[in-house]
Amino acid sequence: MKILVVGGGGREHAIIKKIKENKNVTEIFALPGNGGIAADATCVNIGAKDIDAITEFAVRNNIDFAVVAPDDPLVLGAVDSLNAAGIKTFGPNKAAAIIEGSKVFSKNLMKKYDIPTAAYEVFSDMEKALEYLDTAPIPTVIKADGLALGKGVIIAATRDEAKSAVRSMMQDKVFGDSGNNIVVEEFLEGPEVSVLSFTDGKTIVPMISSMDHKRALDGDKGPNTGGMGTVAPNPYYTEEIADRCMKEIFIPTIEAMNKEGRIFSGCLYFGLMLTKNGPKVIEYNCRFGDPETQVVLPLLESDLLDIMLNIYDRTLDKAEVKFSDKSACCVVMASRGYPQKYETGYEITMPQDKNIYVAGAKIDGGVLKTAGGRVLGVTEVADTLADAVYNAYKTVDSVKFENAYYRKDIGAKALKAEEK
Ligand code: AMP
Ligand code: GLY
Repeated sequence: MKILVVGGGGREHAIIKKIKENKNVTEIFALPGNGGIAADATCVNIGAKDIDAITEFAVRNNIDFAVVAPDDPLVLGAVDSLNAAGIKTFGPNKAAAIIEGSKVFSKNLMKKYDIPTAAYEVFSDMEKALEYLDTAPIPTVIKADGLALGKGVIIAATRDEAKSAVRSMMQDKVFGDSGNNIVVEEFLEGPEVSVLSFTDGKTIVPMISSMDHKRALDGDKGPNTGGMGTVAPNPYYTEEIADRCMKEIFIPTIEAMNKEGRIFSGCLYFGLMLTKNGPKVIEYNCRFGDPETQVVLPLLESDLLDIMLNIYDRTLDKAEVKFSDKSACCVVMASRGYPQKYETGYEITMPQDKNIYVAGAKIDGGVLKTAGGRVLGVTEVADTLADAVYNAYKTVDSVKFENAYYRKDIGAKALKAEEK
């Protein structure tokens, strides 16, 4: 089978390595891929948002199955375009991808169908939002409606901070049209859990839980990033909580989308907060998480492509989805300065026999060089979380590039939680 994967980060690298395990796979194309993915797939320089070019490439190359991994092309309708051209594709169509594409949509969906989430107000008028913030409970959370590269969420500790976030989104348009509408949300507290799930709209199968580390610096300090590391499973996510989430959140979400005529097919990501009043949805993503995928897929014992084909056929109930009872840790190595200013173009040396998922790198003169903020993720799997963390940092020591920066405490919070 000829496979096409849209995207070019660490998540896509992890998906490609897993799909490669299927014996029927003869060739994998990555659009655009990256310098590290090039070791596992044929990279073609077509941007992930260039839907017409992606579709044309898929048809011309007789692609048997396509996977659209990033949020942008999903929200823009890449799956609709590929399906219309006769290409079987994994991922939600445009109508369903709105669950991530619009926070106003997802919040209203949860309210309408009684799915637990933070209380909120929606504003399209800046003056009304500012007035509301004169009396709203503080701290509060301001969210741009549309996609904002993971940066559209501001936790405001004071009224002034909240108001300046609103002005920057609605007046200065720092996130463009994504800030035309905003959500002002109740501030929730508790451990966060990421649960990715496979679903064909009829059946939903949660994957192993994971924990992201979103802040740039140790001790969860510094600015938010795309994610500096992950562990799986997440020790806070007990079987009892999992059962509750299935009943109160996962199944109700799939049913709600069906009732809205927006059948969701693909990977639905639940960003959850375990509050003292029970688990609540912080966000939905219409795709695999990055870097959650880099710890979840290495623990998947079943065949990923088979699961994806079953989802396409709406026979997920027939697929085997089995996870190992081991643990995994992924440490992201970034260019120093990320998520703000950083330099690139430095040579990378790394072991070839390890689970290293490359994100921001390119081949330049035959040499692999840094080319982005998050450069790569090092994953290790072990019988215990402690060993997975220890081994991941040992492998990190054998990866070299100038200006490398990584958090030293990935997994520390999870290990502490395990002790309790
Ligand atoms: P998001 O981009 O939606 O994943 O939000 C980024 C991060 O902001 C989340 O991972 C949470 O840590 C935090 N966050 C979002 N919404 C809330 C909320 N209502 N209360 C507290 N923290 C939040
Ligand atoms: N790691 C969070 C996300 O993929 O959105």
